[in-house]
Amino acid sequence: MARHIVARTSEIPPGGNKVFGVEGRDIVVFHVNGEFFALLNRCPHEGAPLEKAACVARLTSPEPGVYQRSRVGELLRCPWHGWEFDMRNGQSYFDPKRVKVRSYPVAVESGEELQKGPYVAETFPVHVEDNYVIVEV
Ligand code: FES
Repeated sequence: MARHIVARTSEIPPGGNKVFGVEGRDIVVFHVNGEFFALLNRCPHEGAPLEKAACVARLTSPEPGVYQRSRVGELLRCPWHGWEFDMRNGQSYFDPKRVKVRSYPVAVESGEELQKGPYVAETFPVHVEDNYVIVEV
């Protein structure tokens, strides 16, 4: 899996998203609660663009009349028919065993880290002795 630099973090505002074309696929990156999540921008039901999905909370009810919200903004509600997906892994809440949105790993790295990169050329000690340059291999 190749790494692709898609944007500066400031280009995707908190609570927002942005779509990027990566290797022929539309991938939508969401910025929620200080984290970034990347999903294929296509609902597995009938193909709605997930960039238009509502970012909602998980709602649970320990007893009648009482409800609790958690993971605010981390669930996607498809704009066409309302199926819901977990932004962290693309899992469907409608049919978790069979339906899933493709999700992709996301990393945030500083420009300095990217500039350095993991690319290190092999180097060899060099000495100058009298008029001769000597390389050790
Ligand atoms: S297209 Fe997403 S729920 Fe139908």
